[in-house]
Amino acid sequence: MSVTELRASGAVYPTPKVTADTLLQKKRSGNPISAITAYDVPTARLVDEAGIDVVLVGDSLGMVVLGYDNTLPVTMEEMLHHTRAVARGLRRGFLVADMPYGSYHGSAEEAVRNAIRFVKEAGAHAVKIEGGQCRAELVRRLTDAEVCVVGHIGLTPQSVHRLGGYRVQGRTAEAMDRLCADARGLEEAGAVAIVLEGIPRELAAKITADSGVPTIGIGAGPECDGQILVFHDLFNLTFSPTAKFSRQYADGAAFFKEALVRYRDDVTGRRFPSDEESYHLPREVRAAFDAVELSPRRVRKA
Ligand code: KIV
Repeated sequence: MSVTELRASGAVYPTPKVTADTLLQKKRSGNPISAITAYDVPTARLVDEAGIDVVLVGDSLGMVVLGYDNTLPVTMEEMLHHTRAVARGLRRGFLVADMPYGSYHGSAEEAVRNAIRFVKEAGAHAVKIEGGQCRAELVRRLTDAEVCVVGHIGLTPQSVHRLGGYRVQGRTAEAMDRLCADARGLEEAGAVAIVLEGIPRELAAKITADSGVPTIGIGAGPECDGQILVFHDLFNLTFSPTAKFSRQYADGAAFFKEALVRYRDDVTGRRFPSDEESYHLPREVRAAFDAVELSPRRVRKA
């Protein structure tokens, strides 16, 4: 192994990379972990430059970028394609790729093969799988295969049909016990972090306090070790109402739309491009060009 300096554009990149151990140290020292989704190079660059710790190529991609009704149709090839793009834009963040529905629900051999593709072909640092105790054996096998695994319990969007919709989970004593056992099972199996989605704040706080690995919440209250949101929710880019737990930090839709309307008006009003935005012939060629008379058919009407 050679330990080379991390370089970006020829210069030494000063910030150390985030690893699974960084996340664990943050939990232990009480420093919150920031996480967000990204699906392409520009968003990966922005997220990285903002100093966000964990970048998830979520299968929410299917809904916010690809326009599916839910996350179920997302394929391995789509996830690999976008994970590769994010990996190319990232210098510092811990890159987690969501394993899509169906890619880890068959044989363990197939699941391990698919997970390894994310690491080997797409540059992911970890994969995320949905489910609790029922995934513990798979988490063990993936960990044995040197794949870091992030668990995901509570409101698991790939179970939308079984759950009967996107509903807050863990609201009964039995469901609470089950989720606590799920978190414990994932930790014991080797998960490096656990996403807690759509569960009561009190339950998330208990799981977080009991857990030896970081919890990252979405709709799970402020006591989790970290928080994650979907990029497009932050910027009003989903074209649908946002969930109660989400917070809009800027109106990206209004920002882009206003610029697009100005662009359209400049094009239709012949204000774009200007002469400064145009290329010109060299002076000597221009003289020869001016001497050539254009046929009247080709002269544009003023
Ligand atoms: O797919 C996704 O974006 C996710 C996060 C919401 C945790 O799983």
